[in-house]
Amino acid sequence: MSTNTTDNQRKVTTRRFIEMKQRGEKIAMLTAYDYTMASIVDGAGMDAILVGDSASNVMAGNATTLPITLDEMINYTKSVVKGVKRALVVTDLPFGSYQGNSKEALASAIRIMKESGAEAVKLEGGSEIRESIERIISAGIPVMGHLGLTPQSINKFGTYAVRAKEEAEAAKLIEDAKMLEEVGCFAVVLEKIPAALATKVSQSLSIPTIGIGAGNGCDGQVLVYQDMLGLNTGFSPKFLRRYANLAQVINDALGRYIDDVKSGDFPNKDEQY
Ligand code: KIV
Repeated sequence: MSTNTTDNQRKVTTRRFIEMKQRGEKIAMLTAYDYTMASIVDGAGMDAILVGDSASNVMAGNATTLPITLDEMINYTKSVVKGVKRALVVTDLPFGSYQGNSKEALASAIRIMKESGAEAVKLEGGSEIRESIERIISAGIPVMGHLGLTPQSINKFGTYAVRAKEEAEAAKLIEDAKMLEEVGCFAVVLEKIPAALATKVSQSLSIPTIGIGAGNGCDGQVLVYQDMLGLNTGFSPKFLRRYANLAQVINDALGRYIDDVKSGDFPNKDEQY
């Protein structure tokens, strides 16, 4: 287990997220979608695990996050929760499960919390979904906001390019971030926005900001594990740092296995009963 965290045994809670910001301790968050990976990520000392709707892309092979369903998110999240002892588990409410109206949003949030064991939900958007966020929080469910590039709105944006470069969009993002804090969100993801804007937002909020492609001024960072571990080699945005090349490691191992099976070397005498 990494020893970088000040207290690497104690369960991470939403309250602790805010204490970490107050102490100036950065928050490390990574995605996971299954039991085995969640156990590894948790064991490494990650503060939080996001069961992102990026599962739609990296697990199910869809081009966008739109097709993933609430049932699928519940299944991914259930597996992750079983593998986690310490990290805070946050799960995404998928597209179509909360935008309709706030009652539907609450029903979706209650279902995913009850059936998966997640400890918080993440929703994309600002003022448009204020009522839904308020209703979910009033039921005792912690909410993480998500502003900037919100992939569930890709058909509105038409591009995955950096958001809020223009003054009007940046001003709305600042307003939305303040609103998320006011209604009781415990944190907010800032995705793919200029670093200066993310720093300004982070400094103006008492809740932590978790950046992805939003620079070093955020209170924490989140990445998709397939991207940072080099499993998803076709995705190389500027913000991504690759910590391993697992596609290569796996490919080499599989090649050796195939050779050993074909040559009759595997299994040997010690590997049989
Ligand atoms: O779905 C996801 O993985 C996310 C992160 C990219 C923040 O929302």
